[in-house]
Amino acid sequence: MNRTAPIGIFDSGIGGLTVARALYERLPGESTIYFGDTARVPYGPKSPETVRRYSLEILHWLLGQGVKLVVVACNTSTAHALGALREQSPVPVIGVIEPGARAAVAATRGGPVGVIGTAGTIASQAYPRAIHALAPALRVEQAACPLFVPLVEEGWFDHPAAELIARDYLRPLATAAVDVLVLGCTHYPLLKPLLGRVMGQEVRLIDSAAETAQAVAETLAAAQLEAPAGHVVFHRFVVSDDEPRFRQVGSRFIGEKLTAAEVVALG
Ligand code: DGL
Repeated sequence: MNRTAPIGIFDSGIGGLTVARALYERLPGESTIYFGDTARVPYGPKSPETVRRYSLEILHWLLGQGVKLVVVACNTSTAHALGALREQSPVPVIGVIEPGARAAVAATRGGPVGVIGTAGTIASQAYPRAIHALAPALRVEQAACPLFVPLVEEGWFDHPAAELIARDYLRPLATAAVDVLVLGCTHYPLLKPLLGRVMGQEVRLIDSAAETAQAVAETLAAAQLEAPAGHVVFHRFVVSDDEPRFRQVGSRFIGEKLTAAEVVALG
């Protein structure tokens, strides 16, 4: 495997750019290809079979581009498809759920641990499984927050309507007195100030992006796949539809790196 090959990152759309940003910060010497499935977003309400099929199509497209490792930035894809992706991939595949679970277990002072995500991620029980693999006795309380994704896409990070919805969604977790809250969806880190206000300052918010970037760094090092110093770094962005909107909304997630995106239709 060529050490200068890019890392592939994919998401159902724009939200995975929060993970891409953490990767740029942790691994500035690595090139990346980001694929956002903007034609078929959202994955959150779709069946596990459909999410698996879409995810495998993206994996094979990224492998065709010669990537040396694949990051599944989407929580819903990780929940439904990580096993299938690993089975079919000749290169390492890293999801966001195990790193998020690790960070939650490290941060809790005894629980319960709160987890929020899309309907699909919550129904899959992937977070409780990953947390219990590390800490079997820890209590986990979950809540699906399906309206958060469209709110973030609209840029309503701090809108009164967003706060009203957040208070409703998070009430059971606040009642359960969770001491950490895992933001189990690509979009939720953008709601951090709002969620912090709703849950109270003593509740730690866990964003798996930085933890995932650390897992990527460790995997590259163990496989001796780190890019050599001094090579030319590039970042490519590819979407399956609506490139102008991806650039416009995506710039809010990632800043100046997102000046152009290509369109590739899958399926
Ligand atoms: N990327 C998805 C996730 O992290 C959120 C958006 C969607 O529903 O596709 O679960």
